[in-house]
Amino acid sequence: MLDAVDAHIEVVPMGGPCGAEIRGVDLSRALSDATLALIQRAWNEHLIIFFRGQDVTQEQQLAFASRFGDLGARKQAPDHLREKAEGVLQLDPKILLVSNIKLDGVPIGAFGDGDMWFHIDSGYSQRPYRYTFLYGVELPSSGGDTLFANMYRAYDALPDRLKRVLEGKRALHIHEYKRTAQVDVDGDISSAPHWYHPVFITHPYTGKKALFVDRLMTARIEGVSRQESDEILAELYEIGERPEFTYAHKWQLGDFVMWDNLATIHARTDFPRGERRLMRRCTVEGEPVRA
Ligand code: OGA
Ligand code: MN
Repeated sequence: MLDAVDAHIEVVPMGGPCGAEIRGVDLSRALSDATLALIQRAWNEHLIIFFRGQDVTQEQQLAFASRFGDLGARKQAPDHLREKAEGVLQLDPKILLVSNIKLDGVPIGAFGDGDMWFHIDSGYSQRPYRYTFLYGVELPSSGGDTLFANMYRAYDALPDRLKRVLEGKRALHIHEYKRTAQVDVDGDISSAPHWYHPVFITHPYTGKKALFVDRLMTARIEGVSRQESDEILAELYEIGERPEFTYAHKWQLGDFVMWDNLATIHARTDFPRGERRLMRRCTVEGEPVRA
């Protein structure tokens, strides 16, 4: 069934650096091309889009996401990291359950309890996801907000000195399945997923330049000394995470949030131990990112 009521759709910007609510769309239904085009335009502009009060099955979530590109497959962790990564209810290769819930003491999903540092989803891989879609199924009584930072703004705010030094440079992104600790760049990284990407990327849809670095996984700037790399990265993290570039999403049940994973980084705030949180995630596959 196609929705015929595009006229009732409203895009409500959050008024900050990124983020907009779209009202008047029922994501459980097949949407018209016109509605899709409207959402895509709003997404390119606001980077984070959310819909409230949604009631969507896993199949409906995947059907909606697939309108924006090929669905991403869940990444398989290397064997020695698998225990940290997976969860026993990860049953569909296109779905990642993000949860702290345990069944008989064993996590059902990924990312467990507590806060998470700013990161790019699968930024350690050759083809970082283009888009991520997260649906709130069970929420704690407080906290567990998802923070998003606008990396176009971060790029624009860089001092010329840094733009000059970093133009054309790449950075190493490593994933050790940590949530609040930097990877060990001096250790043996051969067994952890990793990839080099340009520090500045050009967004494939908007043509705008974005800073493509995050605190959790970006470990090393190529072609400068270790000390200079550490100093530059500390400065880049600080700029990228400035409150004026950040939107905090406070979840309500039924929220469906989708983010542009090339133009933003995201993090999670802490939430009370012992309270359940369950989110259903899917992604759209990306291409190798370009300078
Ligand atoms: C993710 C993620 C944050 C959250 O699903 O990729 O980072 O708030 N989630 O659970
Ligand atoms: Mn994430």
